[in-house]
Amino acid sequence: MKTLTKIAGIEFSSCILNASGPNDTTFEELAAIAESMSSAIMMKSCTIEPRQGNDKPRYVRLPLGSIQSMGLPNLGYKEYVRFASELKKYNKPIIASVAGLCTADYIQMVKEFQKSEVDLIEVNLSCPNLEGKPQAAYDFQQTENILSKVFELGEKPIGLKLPPYYDLAQYQQMAELIIRYNVSFITCINSIGNTLIIDPETETPVIKAKSGFGGLCGDYIKPIALANVRYFYELLKDKVSIFGVGGVKSGTDVFEFLLAGADAVQIGTAFEKEGVGSFQRINEELLEIMRRKGYSSVQEVKGKLKYL
Ligand code: DHB
Repeated sequence: MKTLTKIAGIEFSSCILNASGPNDTTFEELAAIAESMSSAIMMKSCTIEPRQGNDKPRYVRLPLGSIQSMGLPNLGYKEYVRFASELKKYNKPIIASVAGLCTADYIQMVKEFQKSEVDLIEVNLSCPNLEGKPQAAYDFQQTENILSKVFELGEKPIGLKLPPYYDLAQYQQMAELIIRYNVSFITCINSIGNTLIIDPETETPVIKAKSGFGGLCGDYIKPIALANVRYFYELLKDKVSIFGVGGVKSGTDVFEFLLAGADAVQIGTAFEKEGVGSFQRINEELLEIMRRKGYSSVQEVKGKLKYL
């Protein structure tokens, strides 16, 4: 038995891969992901120019996850276009993640990745850590403006990395845009932006940038991630593939995301903590649960949440 899946028509050897963010910025890190049991190579969200990112401390492990305000440290998109050619030999899907600082940036990067060796392009509309830059996906007008321009630049499937939504009206507005622009996949959810963790000893926030306001990840956010996957699944069914992200650290977590409607899950905080061994461990745990429950494929589990 395997946990094969498909995203936007592209085959993945398992439904478990790395999330954009931890340990995926340099070529060495990406090569380690390529050699691991991650079923794809997801790259760090990139910008037009290389960036150092925010001042440290900018990533702190917490009892139930992590808080981060990295500030998009990355090597600039041209490096990731080049890395994609070199990573091709590993024969697994390569996913670019683009984070524009303005609409023109998204257009330029999507155009170049369309000509590259990447298989999928994730348009990140939800980075919470740039001072003075709202998360694009909370502004439906700005989102539409970006989508209207990037979906005519080539044939490779394009998906959206979305922030958590909380109000059902927001989901509906985003789902309408997803259908109108033929979005191939969505990634739900990015970290919960602008949260605050305080150290009572030092009487300070635990991270430096934005007065300590950063993205919350890990166990804390799993119920919100599950709800986002589920509601988008209900609204979109098989019109779009869904990556679930947010607090996946065990096979049971993956199983829950599949029930909610995910086609695959991305591992962020657990990968940062445990390294590349996490992908194999979680995949084995998932297989064990599926065997015990009599499921023989991801497709059989997908979306099959039962109601009370
Ligand atoms: C960063 C954080 C995010 O949540 C994201 O989607 C992209 C970039 C960062 O701070 O580097």
